[in-house]
Amino acid sequence: MFDINIIRKDFPILNREVNGKPLVYLDNAATSQKPQIVIDSIVDYYSTYNANIHRGVHTLSQEATDVFEIARKKVQKHFNIKESKEVILTSGTTHSINIVANGYAEILQKGDEVIVSAMEHHSNIVPWQMLCERTGAVLKVIPMNSEGELILSEYEKLLSEKTKLVFVNHVSNALGTINPIEIIIEKAHEVNAAVLVDGAQACSHIKVDVQKIDVDYYVTSAHKMCGPTGVGMLYGKKELLNELQPYQGGGEMIKEVTFEKTTYADLPHKFEAGTPNISGGIAFGVAIDYLNEIGFDEIANYENELIAYATQQLLEIEGLKIYGTSQYKTSVISFNIEGIHPYDIGTIVDKLGIAVRTGHHCAQPIMEFYKIPGTVRASFSFYNTKEEVDVLVNAVKKAKMMLQ
Ligand code: ALA
Repeated sequence: MFDINIIRKDFPILNREVNGKPLVYLDNAATSQKPQIVIDSIVDYYSTYNANIHRGVHTLSQEATDVFEIARKKVQKHFNIKESKEVILTSGTTHSINIVANGYAEILQKGDEVIVSAMEHHSNIVPWQMLCERTGAVLKVIPMNSEGELILSEYEKLLSEKTKLVFVNHVSNALGTINPIEIIIEKAHEVNAAVLVDGAQACSHIKVDVQKIDVDYYVTSAHKMCGPTGVGMLYGKKELLNELQPYQGGGEMIKEVTFEKTTYADLPHKFEAGTPNISGGIAFGVAIDYLNEIGFDEIANYENELIAYATQQLLEIEGLKIYGTSQYKTSVISFNIEGIHPYDIGTIVDKLGIAVRTGHHCAQPIMEFYKIPGTVRASFSFYNTKEEVDVLVNAVKKAKMMLQ
């Protein structure tokens, strides 16, 4: 049973006040809050078995290694990944994307084409631009319509035997659109292109089965999934990851080092140079267990109701426009009020205890598309409530009165 009152008790931060008002945390797309069980797992690691992993024969090191590797298996199981060696634990989505982008520097040729979507976060644009500059490959863009949906007929026109890679987010951080990644993957595979899906905004709302969608690379961050910052996942099909060169060298990622030549370790260690975020990896596993215990169907049902209610209430405010109106969307409402700068709304609602993000949300091409400087973004999680939506709506009304 999904009981919001019990769930909220799991998150200690939800009890605090901000500017003398109860915190209303609606910046979940930036980072989610952490349940006590996740916080405790980090404290427990540092208090009772802190040691480096994969290195020592001593008991503490063995214990830490075992728990860290159990966490990798939890990630594997959650995303239905075939082999645990296909789970690279990284510092987050950006790191994961950069591993893949740098890996293709040795593979792409001048004139090859890579395709990105018009609604990507900068982290799924800039690494590919850098790659194109290095290799002479050409970056193409799947356009979107005014609802904030990718135009699939245009995507199909971009695909050809020159296409080597396609990058698209699963859910847009600025619009909330859920992209039809199954179709995008299927079409890319028809021309033998590999697809990387940025799942940073999806994984706290949708349970992803990487084998079912047949994605080539899937990347995400723990901190959007009730886990800690500084840890994330790169999933890649084994045969593809084996072809990529690592871009970070160091300890852990080697088989043998001499001054003449170094050979690399097998997956996943080849891409895990240096001491990893051990407590972070362990806590990522705990966060995954926590979300599964609540249940992704329950989370989706509750959040969909919440977002429908919030959309309806916000649209009653005269002059308010929502950006991202696809019927396939989740968790994010990006909006502006005519004649008011989003930053001013964000500042006033913060005084009332409400955390929203304002600005371009690291997605400047989307803002350019709509010809706006930015938006106010309220992003929801399963621990938010209808009462909090009401607090937001009243605060936005108040801000509008003060600013117009
Ligand atoms: N990518 C995060 C956001 O959308 C930080 O806010």
